[in-house]
Amino acid sequence: MLDLPRPRKGPRLFPGYTQRPTSTFHRAGRDRMSFEISPVFSVPFAQDFLPDAAALNPQLRALILSRESEGMRYANPNPSLKQQPGVFESDFNLFAWQDACIQQLRQFCWATLGRTIRDLNGYSAEEMKQLQIFSHTWFHVTRQGGFTINHTHPMASWSGVYCVDPGTTPEDRPESGVLRFHNPHHYSNLFLDAGNARLRAPYHHGTWNIRFQAGQLVLFPSWLQHEVMPFYGDDERITIAFNCWFGMKNA
Ligand SMILES: [Fe+2]
Repeated sequence: MLDLPRPRKGPRLFPGYTQRPTSTFHRAGRDRMSFEISPVFSVPFAQDFLPDAAALNPQLRALILSRESEGMRYANPNPSLKQQPGVFESDFNLFAWQDACIQQLRQFCWATLGRTIRDLNGYSAEEMKQLQIFSHTWFHVTRQGGFTINHTHPMASWSGVYCVDPGTTPEDRPESGVLRFHNPHHYSNLFLDAGNARLRAPYHHGTWNIRFQAGQLVLFPSWLQHEVMPFYGDDERITIAFNCWFGMKNA
């Protein structure tokens, strides 16, 4: 017979940790766990810094600004998002450019992505050799007032952004050019009270913001909603982005 708590007339203080939890958290292979808190549905992010970014970024910056200055020749002819004033988006074949700085960055991005995928999927070295990558790769140059609306990247599993130059952040605009991710647990803040108002990461509500540093690479699942906040620097914010999808040879 269940030992149900008797109804109470008014609020009372939560008894805290002195009482045993009344429910048991089960996990495969173990019948009964002692108390624990677990990030059951969490979102994997990866990041790394390009080791020789200080040498490579000026080359990337010069090349990108030069190609941008040629206008439509290197622009995305069919952008899927409405292009905002202040944002230049290149065509989606950036990593096919044979310029040495682009190929060096490509190698770094794919190596980091491969490491992430291997770790998260538990692939063996043999399986990694069979993995086929398909991708769209492009650059963004953002100037004052430019931003990117909230979006996801359908038909891809992994997306990434590499920062060539974050541009200047004015002191009175700390969110200038921030890459903002939205919590996919859309109902998690439907009811807020003292029990969940101050949840720590990764259980917190709201958004996760990346204030880029030059040389920083961030990888995230393509389904995750994100946007770039308006950029207010008087110079350029330059990023390289990609979407990837995969096959497994002989699978
Ligand atoms: Fe995006």
